[in-house]
Amino acid sequence: GADVEADISKIEPGQLIRVIWRSKPVWIARRTPELLASLEGLADKLKDPNSDEEQQPEFAKNTYRSLKEEFLVLVGICTHLGCSPQHFKDGAFEQYVEGVPEGFFCPCHGSKFDMAGRVFQNVPAPLNLVVPPYMFIDDNTILIG
Ligand code: FES
Repeated sequence: GADVEADISKIEPGQLIRVIWRSKPVWIARRTPELLASLEGLADKLKDPNSDEEQQPEFAKNTYRSLKEEFLVLVGICTHLGCSPQHFKDGAFEQYVEGVPEGFFCPCHGSKFDMAGRVFQNVPAPLNLVVPPYMFIDDNTILIG
């Protein structure tokens, strides 16, 4: 079928893996406690910190935008014109947003997203990155679709 099972048992904290779902890239990132704590402080830099502006699963309408706080699942397609944003970590994202060590940057027109896929202000992308429908089949397996 069109749905995809992803094995998350080998994703280390701080790591991101990519799978393909319905011809789209989907990212699964395992976020560290430090990263999760840092997301709380970003609200006033974001366009839509609680994902009120768009169609999203109910569980994505908050800071973490995920079923389990640790695991972020996103469609890796920029909400501006559909390019693929790149993941910058370990301080490399600070060149795009001061004080934010990790996030996603779209090379096409410079949109920036945090590690919940929330779009920063003053960029062309209008909306947060899309959270696809998914569920945990067990502790080690996510079903996307
Ligand atoms: Fe990503 Fe335009 S497509 S900023």
